[in-house]
Amino acid sequence: MGNLWSCICLLFPLIILLAPVSIGQLSPSETRTLFQVQKLLEHPQVLQGWTNWTNFCYLPPSPSLKIVCSNNHVTELTVVGNKSSPSQSPKPIDSVNFSVSQQTLSKNFSIDAFFTVLTRLSNLKVLSLVSLGLWGPLPAKINRFWSLQVLNVSSNFIYGEIPQQVMSLKNLASLVLADNLLNGSVPDLESLVALRELNLSGNHLGPSFPSLGNNLVTVILSNNSLRSVIPSGFKNFNLLQQLDISSNKLIGPIPSTLFSLPSIQSLDLAQNQLSGALPTNISCTAKLKYVDISRNLLIGKLPSCIASNSVNRTVISSWNCLSGANSSYQHPFAFCHKEALAVKPPAEGEKEKSTIKLGLILGIIGGVAGIAGVLGLLIVIIIRRSQTRRAYGGKFDGSFADKMSVRSSSVPNIDSRRVPQTMRSAAIGLPPYRVFTLEEIEDATNNFDPTNFVGEESLGQLYKGWLRDGLVVLIKCVKLKQKNLPQSLVQHMEALSKLRHLHLVSVLGHCIVTYQDHPSTASTVFVVLEHISNGSLHDYLTDWRRKDVLKWPQRMAITIGVARGIHFLHTGVAPGIFGNNLKIENVLLDESLTAKLSNYNISLPSKVGSQSPLNGLDIHNLSSANAEKEDIYQLGVILVQVITGKLITSPSELEELRSQLEKGLAEAPSKLRAMIDPSTRGSFAYESLRTTVKITINCLSTDSSSRPSIEDVLWNLQYSNQVQEGWTSSGNLGTQL
Ligand SMILES: *[C@@H]1O[C@H](CO)[C@@H](O)[C@H](O)[C@H]1NC(C)=O
Ligand SMILES: *[C@@H]1O[C@H](CO)[C@@H](O)[C@H](O)[C@H]1NC(C)=O
Ligand SMILES: *[C@@H]1O[C@H](CO)[C@@H](O)[C@H](O)[C@H]1NC(C)=O
Ligand SMILES: *[C@@H]1O[C@H](CO)[C@@H](O)[C@H](O)[C@H]1NC(C)=O
Ligand SMILES: *[C@@H]1O[C@H](CO)[C@@H](O)[C@H](O)[C@H]1NC(C)=O
Ligand SMILES: *[C@@H]1O[C@H](CO)[C@@H](O)[C@H](O)[C@H]1NC(C)=O
Ligand SMILES: *[C@@H]1O[C@H](CO)[C@@H](O)[C@H](O)[C@H]1NC(C)=O
Ligand SMILES: *[C@@H]1O[C@H](CO)[C@@H](O)[C@H](O)[C@H]1NC(C)=O
Ligand SMILES: *[C@@H]1O[C@H](CO)[C@@H](O)[C@H](O)[C@H]1NC(C)=O
Ligand SMILES: *[C@@H]1O[C@H](CO)[C@@H](O)[C@H](O)[C@H]1NC(C)=O
Ligand SMILES: *[C@@H]1O[C@H](CO)[C@@H](O)[C@H](O)[C@H]1NC(C)=O
Repeated sequence: MGNLWSCICLLFPLIILLAPVSIGQLSPSETRTLFQVQKLLEHPQVLQGWTNWTNFCYLPPSPSLKIVCSNNHVTELTVVGNKSSPSQSPKPIDSVNFSVSQQTLSKNFSIDAFFTVLTRLSNLKVLSLVSLGLWGPLPAKINRFWSLQVLNVSSNFIYGEIPQQVMSLKNLASLVLADNLLNGSVPDLESLVALRELNLSGNHLGPSFPSLGNNLVTVILSNNSLRSVIPSGFKNFNLLQQLDISSNKLIGPIPSTLFSLPSIQSLDLAQNQLSGALPTNISCTAKLKYVDISRNLLIGKLPSCIASNSVNRTVISSWNCLSGANSSYQHPFAFCHKEALAVKPPAEGEKEKSTIKLGLILGIIGGVAGIAGVLGLLIVIIIRRSQTRRAYGGKFDGSFADKMSVRSSSVPNIDSRRVPQTMRSAAIGLPPYRVFTLEEIEDATNNFDPTNFVGEESLGQLYKGWLRDGLVVLIKCVKLKQKNLPQSLVQHMEALSKLRHLHLVSVLGHCIVTYQDHPSTASTVFVVLEHISNGSLHDYLTDWRRKDVLKWPQRMAITIGVARGIHFLHTGVAPGIFGNNLKIENVLLDESLTAKLSNYNISLPSKVGSQSPLNGLDIHNLSSANAEKEDIYQLGVILVQVITGKLITSPSELEELRSQLEKGLAEAPSKLRAMIDPSTRGSFAYESLRTTVKITINCLSTDSSSRPSIEDVLWNLQYSNQVQEGWTSSGNLGTQL
């Protein structure tokens, strides 16, 4: 009994404080204040009928109006209006598109002026202003209510952040801001040692979990935007009876200590993204009457104390992936697997890698260097062109050469830095680069629905998604282990935005999500990529029906596209991007058979501190010459496969084909023709073939320094294409074998 009494005292100190109501007249200044309140609240029904003779301290209390006085001062003001709350609004409202409406006070209302007036009631211990249509940010001057014990402004249209100043309300026992439009992080409430009841339900608060004092009895944070793990600190909340954190986006495991908190009676964790299995040996406090863990991503078997409903305990566990009872109300196991995204730390094996090979080296794009680069490149191209022309021994007349140079200058093979970013994007029909919100990523993938799962790479999962404007995208989810993101990551992402080219799978944007409270995982980077729908060059070369589509002119166009993509990576950004993992699987084709390189080298820093962006740059530059020639070699391998239609799976196969091509080139046109993919028979000019084979063999040179530059390859392929076009247009198609 004694226990019960002390418990009641602890929970409701205000009952005692409010009990003695003193007899007396309200001071004239506070009377005036109440009239002002009436006016500022725009004369709500509940405050009507007040006259100069109204004795406010003796109004009969009602659920909608209560004024309590002590020593001629108002100590409680409770006004409950009849305006609806944001959640009852027919259209969803958020703090950003809020506008004054029927359900709010008029445009004339100033919440700041209103609180200025209210703070003249300086002895207030209880302030409840509910459903009155208050709108605006909660003013910082609430800290002037130095003796406030209850603040209840639920069901209004209060937006913005909760002011830090609530921290100074040392006597506050109840803080109820439920059902408003508050957003942002909750200020640190740990210092409010008297706080017993917290109800912040139905706002947009988050993403981090608020820090709370461990004397709380009731914690209600439901219907917000919390995105963290449930903090382990709850294990010290010995008085906690009710915890409602439902309808957020909480992740990670459920701390098993919640079930055994000494006072806990009700636990509502429903509608989150809580994951993993609960340990089966946990025990529940006898008082625990209600548990709702439904609509999460939980797996495994439930511990016996919440395995089923009993007379004394209601348990709701539907719509997880739990095994055991009531399985008809559970999702299939795969549904809960998407949690791996946000929660599972990266595989151990990836530790030693110093860069994650999504890849991308930070580009410092200096204007001066850029212009110098463009000029240099132009000169190189002109010189090479005349050299090559000489090498072909004047077989072609001048008009042809003229035609060719006009064409060459029209191809976008120079430095696209000269073209403003937005123009480039528009030119290739893509929206400008942008940063996405997690909501947008979740929307696009239908909350990472398993049906949108495309595959898993070393880096992370790939999901197909649909943006609101209908654009189909591919979303790559890269988990980073470090706690704090290096500044360079943001710069890396910025540099990513520069990689727009007709022949690259472009990055449309990204989203970085950091889980502050998570013990192991720190952040996930979602990279939003263009979705190329028509399969890869590999698919085309292996499927005979598709292969037939690729006649010689189509193959030339594709290889030129590949070379232009590489050329852009090498020279279109500074520093160039080399080592691009070029293979026929990574050459994607769209509906018009335009080649797009995917999986090119963009690397994210994976270790914090150990690698400054500059270091990364140095290391990169040392090997870039090699990596450049490696790209040329890999392009050669692609060319061999395109020419012969044969897939290369080993170095010996490559060597075999290379030497046959070399022989064919040296010996006789018929020998070379015999080497070619039969699907292209009759569709090529021999000179076009010969030029292509020649540059291919050069690309495959074992001595990397004698491999041609990408400009050289590109020029030869364009030349070859030119010959082909001349041949085709003179009516040769199909006549030559
Ligand atoms: C109340 O008193 C003020 C002056 O003190 C007067 O101006 C006002 O009209 C009075 N209001 C009513 C409703 O009698
Ligand atoms: C609130 O009360 C007023 C006065 O009785 C009434 O006109 C109004 O329709 C009520 N509003 C709601 C939402 O019930
Ligand atoms: C406010 O914006 C949200 C999306 O952010 C939208 O769903 C809602 O319809 C908007 N509300 C109004 C009243 O325009
Ligand atoms: C707002 O103020 C203007 C003038 O200050 C007044 O004419 C108008 O009636 C007021 N509106 C409301 C709803 O009080
Ligand atoms: C706050 O107001 C709401 C609505 O009137 C009520 O249900 C709740 O009990 C109040 N809470 C406190 C602590 O006054
Ligand atoms: C918390 O606030 C919400 C919204 O006003 C209300 O529905 C709920 O009953 C409140 N809970 C408690 C325990 O006061
Ligand atoms: C909170 O809402 C305000 C508008 O009321 C908006 O400007 C601000 O960006 C929002 N903050 C967050 C963190 O969403
Ligand atoms: C919280 O959201 C759920 C579903 O969106 C809704 O049913 C419930 O009424 C909301 N609760 C509060 C207190 O707003
Ligand atoms: C449950 O089992 C784990 C190991 O299986 C152990 O570490 C933990 O202490 C046990 N908990 C209880 C409450 O028995
Ligand atoms: C339910 O609670 C009552 C007393 O509160 C107790 O006697 C009974 O044993 C409990 N039943 C179960 C199944 O735990
Ligand atoms: C199974 O779950 C459904 C949905 O939550 C519930 O209505 C039903 O009572 C449960 N059945 C059992 C046997 O627990």
